[in-house]
Amino acid sequence: MPTALNALETPALLLDEPRMMANIARLSARLRALGVPLRPHVKTAKCIEVALAMTGGAPGPITVSTLREAERFAQAGFRDITYAVGISANKLPHVAELLARGVRLTVILDSVEAAVAVAGFMRGRREGLDVLIEIDTDGHRAGVQPESPDLLAVAHALQAPQVALMGVLTHAGESYQCKGDEALRAMAEQERAGAVLAAQRLRAAGHPAPVVSVGSTPTALSAVDLSGVTEVRAGVFVFFDLVMAGVGVCTPEQIAVSVLTTVIGHQDHRGWTLCDAGWMALSRDRGTAAQAVDQGYGLVCDAAGQVLPDFIVSAVSQEHGTITHRSGDPTRRLNLPVGTMLRILPNHACATGAQHDRYRVLDESGGVAREWERFGGW
Ligand SMILES: Cc1ncc(COP(=O)(O)O)c(C=O)c1O
Repeated sequence: MPTALNALETPALLLDEPRMMANIARLSARLRALGVPLRPHVKTAKCIEVALAMTGGAPGPITVSTLREAERFAQAGFRDITYAVGISANKLPHVAELLARGVRLTVILDSVEAAVAVAGFMRGRREGLDVLIEIDTDGHRAGVQPESPDLLAVAHALQAPQVALMGVLTHAGESYQCKGDEALRAMAEQERAGAVLAAQRLRAAGHPAPVVSVGSTPTALSAVDLSGVTEVRAGVFVFFDLVMAGVGVCTPEQIAVSVLTTVIGHQDHRGWTLCDAGWMALSRDRGTAAQAVDQGYGLVCDAAGQVLPDFIVSAVSQEHGTITHRSGDPTRRLNLPVGTMLRILPNHACATGAQHDRYRVLDESGGVAREWERFGGW
């Protein structure tokens, strides 16, 4: 029998499993139609059960953001893992341990220095290491420009018997700034075209480069053509969040994670309702601050998950959240008694999730059917 929400101590991280499964089905159907497999990024979830749901019930290829994730998912049977943060020399012994345990780990890099370090470290080792060169297709963060001569210099520096240059990887993080479907489609095409161009240049220079890996949630959900791409990595799509709703790739009703909180007091003359979800439970992420609709520290729903339009957590301290109307008008206050439970939708699912050690998993009844562990650290 599922446990009723009012039996929980708050704050608590809730995961609506039917919404999560619908989110997975939505992206899977899109990618199936485009003929490209998903290598989900599991950094949002950091949870074995969620990763299994993303890979269709059995361990499949995944992307991770830490070697701790690689460890934990390898222990659970995931053997094909891409570590999608530029590798540094101080992590190579840890990489070697994972390889020795039979994990097929792929690392990424975008500099000759890192390539020299990897090639030097792998020389004379028994296991081989797969490497992807990170490509910058949108000026967002890391990577070699697709047309840059540096691409071939990095590839050249990787020449070593135990190193296989498998291809290229890019992440169009600038898609989070896109406004409108057309801009999203254009960004998806820019991501695809840049990655494919880089792979073609490697092939023309004699490197096989079979892998062309792209992905972010907005571009994965917007691409209309993925010719030349061999895999898509998306992660936050599994839960979605208010930033993704602001970008326009989901609605608040599709967000699968929320923080259950309890009303603990009021300051009626100020229009404040105080709850027990502060920044420890919600995170300090203000990712919607730069968007058209600023959601404060989170959008308020009733305990059943119905959005209470325009009520947001407008201020936080460590264990207090202050709920107000987004207008700040003190007469438009949430008139709910102390003890009332509410749910807060997060700005950024990865950041809010990171504050919690487990998910309370809701089934169709809206009750807590199970608990799933969530981990963190490096
Ligand atoms: C390298 C890389 N690939 C894929 C992703 C997945 O993107 P999203 O969280 O938008 O699904 C991320 C997210 O930060 C990333 O850093």
